[in-house]
Amino acid sequence: MIFFARFPAIAYCLLIISNAQAIFKWTTHSAAYRTDDCQPWVLPVVKKVEKIIVEDQSLNHEYLPILGLPEFRCSASKIALGEESPAIKEKRVGGVQCLGGTGALKVGAEYLRRWYNGNNNTGTPVYVSTPTWENHNGVFVDAGFQDIRTYRYWEPEKRGLALGGFLADLENAPERSIIVLHACAHNPTGTDPTQQEWMQIADVMKRRSLFPFFDSAYQGFASGSLEKDAWAVRYFVSQGFEIFCAQSFSKNFGLYNERVGNLTVVANDGENLARVLSQMEKIVRTTWSNPPSQGARLVAVTLTTPELFEEWKGNVKTMADRVLLMRAQLKAKLQGLGTPGTWDHITQQIGMFSFTGLNPKQVEFLIKEKHVYLMASGRINMCGLTSKNIDYVAESIHEAVTKIQ
Ligand SMILES: Cc1ncc(COP(=O)(O)O)c(C=O)c1O
Ligand SMILES: *[C@@H]1O[C@H](CO)[C@@H](O)[C@H](O)[C@H]1NC(C)=O
Ligand SMILES: *[C@@H]1O[C@H](CO)[C@@H](O)[C@H](O)[C@H]1NC(C)=O
Repeated sequence: MIFFARFPAIAYCLLIISNAQAIFKWTTHSAAYRTDDCQPWVLPVVKKVEKIIVEDQSLNHEYLPILGLPEFRCSASKIALGEESPAIKEKRVGGVQCLGGTGALKVGAEYLRRWYNGNNNTGTPVYVSTPTWENHNGVFVDAGFQDIRTYRYWEPEKRGLALGGFLADLENAPERSIIVLHACAHNPTGTDPTQQEWMQIADVMKRRSLFPFFDSAYQGFASGSLEKDAWAVRYFVSQGFEIFCAQSFSKNFGLYNERVGNLTVVANDGENLARVLSQMEKIVRTTWSNPPSQGARLVAVTLTTPELFEEWKGNVKTMADRVLLMRAQLKAKLQGLGTPGTWDHITQQIGMFSFTGLNPKQVEFLIKEKHVYLMASGRINMCGLTSKNIDYVAESIHEAVTKIQ
C-alpha cells in the first residue's frame, strides 16, 4: 500500500508501521523526505556535526542573543544570496534566526503589519498563490492582515504555470501590496516559473511597487543545486528590490524537529536594515524571547566548515536525485504502458510534490480500489514512491486513467 497524503497516511502507518514514533512523524509532517525504504533520513553530515558539537567543551547552554546565534545569522556560505552578493558587501543584508521557515514567515508578517506602509497596517493586501501551502493564509491573518488575496498560479489544462493570469493579477494589485512567492519547488504544484518567467514577474512587480516576500523551504532539494534553487531570490535582489526571504532548513538538512529558520532582510541601505532589525528584535522578544541553539549550531558548523559544506551539498543532492529518479521512472513507466494523456509534467515539475492531473474520480478509484493514497487534488508526495512500489503505482494509475474519464 502506498500513501502520499496527509490523512490517509494515518491508515498506512497503522497498517504497515508499528513504530509509534514513525507514525507520529509521517502523519504530522507529510511534506517530509523518505528514503527508498520509506524511512526518515538523518543526513550523514548532520550525524557527524552532532558528534563534533557533543565533544566541543567550549559550548554551553546559555541563552542565545534575541536575534540568534551570530555564526548562524551571518554564516560564511551565504547560501540564500550567494557569496558575491553586492547587497551583502554593501552591508544592507541581515538575518534573524527563527523557529523554522514558519517562524521566519511569522516574524516577517508581524513586522510588515506593524511597520510597512504606515503603522498598524492591517489593510495592505497580501497575495498568495492559488493553490499554496495552507499555512501562508493563516500566518498573515494571525499577524493581523485583513485583506488576503490570491494570484493565479496553476493552469489545470496545461498542467503548468498560469503565467498570463499570474502577471495580470500582479498588474491589478494595488501598489505596495505584499506578494508571497515560493522561491523554488512550489508547494503543492511542483511547478516553478522559468528564469524568463521570473524576469517578467519581477518586471511587473517593480513597475507596480509590489513587495516580494519569498518563502524558501526547499533550497537545494528541488534541483540538487543550491545556486539554481536560489536563482529567483538572487535575481530580485540584483534588480534592486528590498525583500524578505523566509529560509527553512527543515527539509534540506532533514532537521524538521529542530525548528531552524532564518529570515533574510535585504534593505536599501544599512540604516534601514538596522531599524528593521531593531523592530524585529522587539517582536522576537515577546514571541520566543530567544531562539534554540542546537539546530542553528548544526547548520552553522556545516556551512562554515568547507569539507562539511561539500559533504552537505552531496547529502542534499542524494535526496533531490532520488526524487528526480522516481519522477523519471514514473513517467517512463506510464509512457511504456501507453497510458492516455501526456506525462511530461511529472518530470517538468520539481521538488517533493507533483500535481498529477488525475481527476477526483480517478483519485477515488486509486484510493478505494488500489490503496494508493493521494490528495483529492491529485497531489502526490514523490517520496511515497520507491523502487519497490513504483511498478504497482504506475499500473494503478494506468488502470485509473483508462477505466475512468
Ligand atoms: C512552502 C512551505 N513553506 C514553509 C514550510 C515550513 O517549514 P518549517 O517546517 O521550517 O516551518 C513548508 C513546510 O512544509 C512549506 O512547504
Ligand atoms: C541568514 O541570513 C543572513 C542574511 O541573509 C545570512 O547572512 C546568513 O548567512 C543566513 N544564515 C544561514 C545559516 O543561511
Ligand atoms: C490596528 O488597526 C485595527 C483595524 O484598523 C484596529 O482594530 C486596531 O485597534 C488597531 N490597533 C492599534 C494598536 O492601533
